[in-house]
Amino acid sequence: MSIIDGKQIAKDLRQSIKSQVDNLNRAPGLAVILVGDDPASAVYVRNKDNACKEVGFYSEKIDKPADITQEELLSEIKRLNTDDRIDGILVQLPLPNHLDTNLVIETISPEKDVDGFHSENIGKLMQNKPYLRPCTPKGVMTMLATIGVDIVGKDCVVVGASNIVGRPMAMELLNAGATVTICHSRTQDLPGKLKLADIVVVAVGIPQMIKGEWIKDGAIVIDVGINRLDSGKLVGDVDFESTKDIASWITPVPGGVGPMTIATLLENTLSSCKEKI
Ligand code: GUN
Repeated sequence: MSIIDGKQIAKDLRQSIKSQVDNLNRAPGLAVILVGDDPASAVYVRNKDNACKEVGFYSEKIDKPADITQEELLSEIKRLNTDDRIDGILVQLPLPNHLDTNLVIETISPEKDVDGFHSENIGKLMQNKPYLRPCTPKGVMTMLATIGVDIVGKDCVVVGASNIVGRPMAMELLNAGATVTICHSRTQDLPGKLKLADIVVVAVGIPQMIKGEWIKDGAIVIDVGINRLDSGKLVGDVDFESTKDIASWITPVPGGVGPMTIATLLENTLSSCKEKI
């Protein structure tokens, strides 16, 4: 078994981004909006802001109260849509229930939608004419490219059908030439389906749900989950101990997909900036 070192791959990617920024005549700009004070979201937003500083981006961290009105949030996004210093706008999800998440995403200019969540960007990904691509699935594709796997014709199983990870992940793998099965909470015989897969990507948010005995010998296992156990330990959606000696490659948690998501956000912001200058 080999570990896919997401931390190192992300570090190399940030280094490459930094050297490209040094050759631009202005810094790429990212605005990150955090609504409310969910502690996990606050950590993610702080990490994104710090990553921007590391690679020489201009960054705006915008904190809004949990009771912000829909109109106020949309007008903040519209202001950023027309701000020439800003190449990327990210609204941290989930949003408080009184806000319409879909309307918020659709208000972000597709050219600045560095999360790749706008229907126009998702539509382009589905047509295999991608523009800005969702960060986590794109980061997983970078990891697969880095270990040198040939995806064409491979049997892939994606577990989880969310808009943020599962669905765009399946589309990325399809675009790369794989045969893709999307499994979810109502899938019958998940172990039987996993047993046929050359590449497994899991994003369900259930700690250690996927067992090693369900995995085909030599499969590549990508774990997108980050869950904190009552003991305080961080674990993925895959039971690492039972899977590590069956998989040929596996991502650890932490230090796997997580760092790739943020590095890919920087990559998207850089390409959005390059489109404009
Ligand atoms: N919440 C969890 N993951 C993400 C992400 O990739 N982007 C945003 N905006 N919010 C998230």
